[in-house]
Amino acid sequence: MMEALLQTIRARAGAAPVRLGLILGSGLGHLAEAVEGAAIDYADLPGFPHAGVSGHNPKLVIGMLEGVRVAVFGGRAHYYESGRGDAMRKPLEVLAALGAEALILTNAAGSLVAANRPGDLMMLNDHINFSGLNPLIGEKSDARFVNMTDCYDPAMRAALQAAAKAEGQSLAEGVYAWYSGPSFETKAEIRTLKIIGADAVGMSTVPECILARFLGLKVAAISTITNMAAGMSDEHISHEHTKTMAPVGAAKLETLLRRYLRDLAV
Ligand code: HPA
Repeated sequence: MMEALLQTIRARAGAAPVRLGLILGSGLGHLAEAVEGAAIDYADLPGFPHAGVSGHNPKLVIGMLEGVRVAVFGGRAHYYESGRGDAMRKPLEVLAALGAEALILTNAAGSLVAANRPGDLMMLNDHINFSGLNPLIGEKSDARFVNMTDCYDPAMRAALQAAAKAEGQSLAEGVYAWYSGPSFETKAEIRTLKIIGADAVGMSTVPECILARFLGLKVAAISTITNMAAGMSDEHISHEHTKTMAPVGAAKLETLLRRYLRDLAV
């Protein structure tokens, strides 16, 4: 099964190993188009999720971006689509099998910190699994006992901070809380999340981080803040609003990622 998948991918995108994976969150799909390489629909890749969330672009694109061979996942599956926390396991297994050593996750998130505004970026330095779910439930091997200390790789974070600085960007860091969705949080839930130490909230990324660490990939993650979390502003929270606001931060994110990759290429 895995061999057949890899053969399909290599036939379309070439056999050279991939260095880095990139998962694009809501409204961030545009970066996939910048990659010079082959685009393969998830529908042609058995075991890949049928990403059904508007604002996502369900394609795997493999090729060069700023001198680095990358695999860009234009769509992710969320827990709330299927009730399966491990919906991204196959794509991440493929990424590891293609030779990648690292993964950068992006997402759209609500901010719990007044200083981090819509359109800003927040790099994750840790997370809180507020869902109680785990994508490794049912995994039989002892590898399931994944060490999550420093799950967001300190060296990658330092390199991303250096890239931000070189671009004249300030890059906030903070703790991301995973809320299952698809409904947004209540005001009381956001107050709770603040008390327990969250700086941003969203419906993805944590399961992928756990799966990627399980597979031995280094991980970094960046949120595009699309709104202040429930109760923190008068703005109406909606998926429409997320899709409208994500491109604002996406421009900064693209600049940052391009610089990070250029520095990685040398
Ligand atoms: N909550 C959860 N997920 C989100 C939000 C939010 O406020 N904004 C964008 N994704």
